[in-house]
Amino acid sequence: MSVNSQHACNLALFGALGDLSRRKLLKALYFLDDAGLIHDDTRIIGIARQEMDDAGFIDVAKENLERFIKAKELKKNVLERFLKRLSYVTIDMTEISGYEKLAEKLKGDDKPMIAYMATPPSVFGDICSNLDKVGLNKSPNRVVLEKPLGKDLASSQEINDVVAAHFGEEQTYRIDHYLGKETVQNLIALRFANNLFGSQWNQNHIDHVQITVAEEVGVEGRWSYYDKSGQMRDMVQNHLLQLLCLLAMDPPFDLSADAIRDEKLKVLRALKPITTETINTHAVRGQYVAGNHQGKPVPGYLEEDGANLESHTETFVAIKAEISNWRWAGVPFYLRTGKRLPSKVSEIIVQFKQQPHYIFAPDQRNLAANKLVLRLQPDEGISLQIATKDQGLDKGMRLRSGPLDINFSEAFKQDRTPDAYERLLLEVMMGNQSLFVRRDEVEYAWRWVDQIIDAWDQSNEPPKKYQAGSWGPVSSIALISRDGRSWNEDS
Ligand code: BG6
Repeated sequence: MSVNSQHACNLALFGALGDLSRRKLLKALYFLDDAGLIHDDTRIIGIARQEMDDAGFIDVAKENLERFIKAKELKKNVLERFLKRLSYVTIDMTEISGYEKLAEKLKGDDKPMIAYMATPPSVFGDICSNLDKVGLNKSPNRVVLEKPLGKDLASSQEINDVVAAHFGEEQTYRIDHYLGKETVQNLIALRFANNLFGSQWNQNHIDHVQITVAEEVGVEGRWSYYDKSGQMRDMVQNHLLQLLCLLAMDPPFDLSADAIRDEKLKVLRALKPITTETINTHAVRGQYVAGNHQGKPVPGYLEEDGANLESHTETFVAIKAEISNWRWAGVPFYLRTGKRLPSKVSEIIVQFKQQPHYIFAPDQRNLAANKLVLRLQPDEGISLQIATKDQGLDKGMRLRSGPLDINFSEAFKQDRTPDAYERLLLEVMMGNQSLFVRRDEVEYAWRWVDQIIDAWDQSNEPPKKYQAGSWGPVSSIALISRDGRSWNEDS
């Protein structure tokens, strides 16, 4: 890609020995290098507190790449080239001396430095202020922030203030890795490049929308971390609301970062608050109890290692969200996400309304409404259910419903769909903020989420129990069936 030839940089990876970096970031950078998307002069500097030299870090990186990349995808020549880009600086995040070493290393190098914070937010402040002290905070240098950005509006404002004291908003890239997923990108193309959908995308034609992000895993040894957040803060505040924004926003005037983010913000501002009056009809929180996963017994949330038996933290959330504007009046957006559900699937269902007058057999009424399915994972793709006439002389005018299907990896002959982090790292290196979340978006999302959490706290009702390996508590079915609808059964 020629566009990237102008985008050489120094990528300073804070938290380079942590889990995110080992599992995801190094691997994503390797694949970008393999695809020829990293400039020859780009350098990657691992940064962590542990004493280590360049060779030690290169060994760690090699070991992790060999562990997390399939042998057939790990090419010797690419690996060699990639490892040559790496070096290491020991920095205790709170001590200025390490940053001075970093500044010394980068002296006379005019490439932008990207400070990627794969660290807990508690050290963002120290890192930013120390980078400022050694003069590494000036544009075009950038800072990339990983979630969680706070646990409520107030704490997220604190984090944002600390960063903003040293880096401008145009230098700040807040990651929501869902925005880097292929199908999420495609949502924009689908809506705004196809009049067929663009013209129908409103309350006149759409009955309702469902967003499901289901995971099979439980909390996987991170009980005490997860227990402080829960599914609402961990998944809804960011990933599900970002998907909702891209589905519901008005057309931006162009594809620039702020044009897109302005439109997303309007959706967040138009979300109808869920309060103590509406919490029971509009939101359900659940917590898994022991059950089965792939035929094997698995423990409940309160039986996981390190669990506190009193915990009311939710591992499942279902919400009926409503958007108060002309486009979406009367169209519910049902959100559902949880741990220990039957399968890992993320999908969006856009259910279209039926034609105003129905003329086919009475028992086939439900086939005569189009359903658009956007699969984020697994098997990224888009499918549109349409009704046609069943073939055969003996069938009369019987309808059948079938999919018009695009499977991305088959359609575009790809062996692998790039991971979200590959796209996001590439965009940061190119200085494009479109796929990153602006401060006001984060804060409006927290405003809406905080109200729901407050309403739950005030209700004093514990989360509803659901069996591991099921689709969540019975009340989540009631949430949608009360409106005469049901969750997509093909999930
Ligand atoms: C993260 C959450 O942001 O997203 C995790 O903190 C969750 O709890 C993960 O498991 C899911 O991401 P993906 O891409 O696997 O759907």
